[in-house]
Amino acid sequence: MNDLAMEKKNSAGVIILVALLLAIGYAVLRYHIAGPVPWKDFPMFILNKGLCLAGFILLTLNFTLGPLNNLGVPVSWGWLNARKALGMTGFLLVLIHALMSFMLFSPAVYAQFFVEDGTLTLLGGLAMLFGVLGFVFLWGYNLSFQTFLREDTAFIQFITSRKVLLFALVLGGLHLFFMGFEGWLEPAGWHGGLPPISLVAFSFFAIGYLINLVGRE
Ligand code: HEM
Repeated sequence: MNDLAMEKKNSAGVIILVALLLAIGYAVLRYHIAGPVPWKDFPMFILNKGLCLAGFILLTLNFTLGPLNNLGVPVSWGWLNARKALGMTGFLLVLIHALMSFMLFSPAVYAQFFVEDGTLTLLGGLAMLFGVLGFVFLWGYNLSFQTFLREDTAFIQFITSRKVLLFALVLGGLHLFFMGFEGWLEPAGWHGGLPPISLVAFSFFAIGYLINLVGRE
């Protein structure tokens, strides 16, 4: 491949496919094969977990590949050029996750987030608050590149600035933390010894956050 062809390469398709296969595969392995969840719950309950993990990984890559490159880690053109598609696909997967979660959200499915009278626990409320805030931020972030706002250099500089993106990552991290941290502390209860999906996603968040902290200009 010559230099120009290399610079135009875009590996988004492969990255998205691998992220989806790994994330859905992990959800199936942990909850259906190693865990007790019946297969009838695959289409919504388990697929929702796989899709939001894949979305989270793609969004973390979208925010982190540039700073990683700044730190001197060689990131290929194929991966750098993929960032836009990874961000858009990650956003759409999280949108599917939000819609699926709205439909499933009841004490029968998520007993851990509710008290007996049917209201939310404090942790459940905080987890959902940060999920909604994270989602609305991503929505606004995407809109700024699709509307007249993209002509406004000062605004684009602000929305893609280090402090704004670090704040956005924290919203996702808090959503995961309040949702999952009680389960993270009980490895004896992990199905097949496999860590919960919220912890897997939180590990991506923590690594992505650190890379952005030191590598984003
Ligand atoms: C309207 C916004 C949102 C709602 C209502 C929502 C709701 C939920 C619910 C109910 C769960 C528990 C899923 C389960 O254990 O089966 C969950 C988990 C999760 N959410 Fe969200 N969420 C929202 C936004 C987001 C955003 C913006 C992200 C990513 C940036 C995200 C990423 C995740 C991840 C990775 C999990 C872990 C799944 C697991 O532990 O099994 N969510 N969310």
